[in-house]
Amino acid sequence: MFLSADEAAELLIQGMVIAVPTETVYGLAAIATIPSAVARIFDIKKRPADNPLICHFHSIDQIKAYVTQIPSATEKLLRHFSPGPVSFMVDLPADSPLKFATCGSDQVVARIPDHELLLSIIKKADQPIAAPSANTSGKVSPTSAEMVQRDLGNKVDGIVDGCKCSIGLESTIVDARNDDEIYILRQGAIGAQELQYMLPQTKFTVISESSKNVIPGMKYRHYAPDTLIKLIEDIKEVSGNSALLITQEGFGKLSIEWIIKLSEANVQIIKLGSLENLYELANKFYEKISSVDLLNVSTAFFLRTEFGNSSLGKALQDRIEKIASAS
Ligand code: TXA
Ligand code: MG
Repeated sequence: MFLSADEAAELLIQGMVIAVPTETVYGLAAIATIPSAVARIFDIKKRPADNPLICHFHSIDQIKAYVTQIPSATEKLLRHFSPGPVSFMVDLPADSPLKFATCGSDQVVARIPDHELLLSIIKKADQPIAAPSANTSGKVSPTSAEMVQRDLGNKVDGIVDGCKCSIGLESTIVDARNDDEIYILRQGAIGAQELQYMLPQTKFTVISESSKNVIPGMKYRHYAPDTLIKLIEDIKEVSGNSALLITQEGFGKLSIEWIIKLSEANVQIIKLGSLENLYELANKFYEKISSVDLLNVSTAFFLRTEFGNSSLGKALQDRIEKIASAS
């Protein structure tokens, strides 16, 4: 039922839309230069028509064939962090065939995914692959083939099962076109700390939602399951017949009395993993968040946690704030 790499490349060349694995989240893929295929991505996802798609390439040389130039800071970061979970904004020539995927924008956000199966599909298709996250707009990004199946299974032309995504959060998006100041347009597992290491003299700025160079995707409702997710500061705010999302450490701090009280009030506890192992926590994060929709509860409480100052911690903090504000 799942597609092989050969079948996937063949379907893409025919203009079909399929779900593919990456190391970050699953993508809803079509060849970026086939307008009808790109249009179907928007249709399947119910994505607003002005929200451009990230394009996936198999190599820096392939990116170079499509863009005006790769600026020096971009090239340095691309060489170090690709294949990997960092996407780069680059300029397109006026007559670029990627403009269907970029919704007419003169920039494309390009990335080389660190996933062998997908890289082999891009090589076989011999074209850039446009692929936003493989979820209905506004829902949580899928990190397994099963999650894609549940949300979009009857709308896509096939799914490639590449196991669970190793990272589990969307890629970092970087605008490093200017050597003086580099913008982080979306936070991810690799952040300013790691990027700065390669360019110690450069200023890195994380763009907030109120900035003028915010990416279109930030304007829209984000990453929320159907169930209402409420971010709470104190366990006393939990009401009955609900779910509680809590870290290992948060759970460890609950008294026996509270654990009994929650169980008597029919509160289903979903443990998110430990802050000691943020990689594992991030890796299962979207799966756990979206699992609340299977519990038949109207509200899930998320006991506020500080995920810390690492890039991954900041990316997790960013996602949970968005999930809660979208609910
Ligand atoms: O990890 C990822 O990046 C995943 C996997 C599948 O590669 N893709 C992904 O795509 O998260 P998507 O479409 O869900 O998020 C892409 C974000 C959106 O907020 C979009 O507005 C922004 O990137 N974006 C894409 N192309 C852009 C462009 N040309 N200019 C400005 N923003 C762009
Ligand atoms: Mg998305």
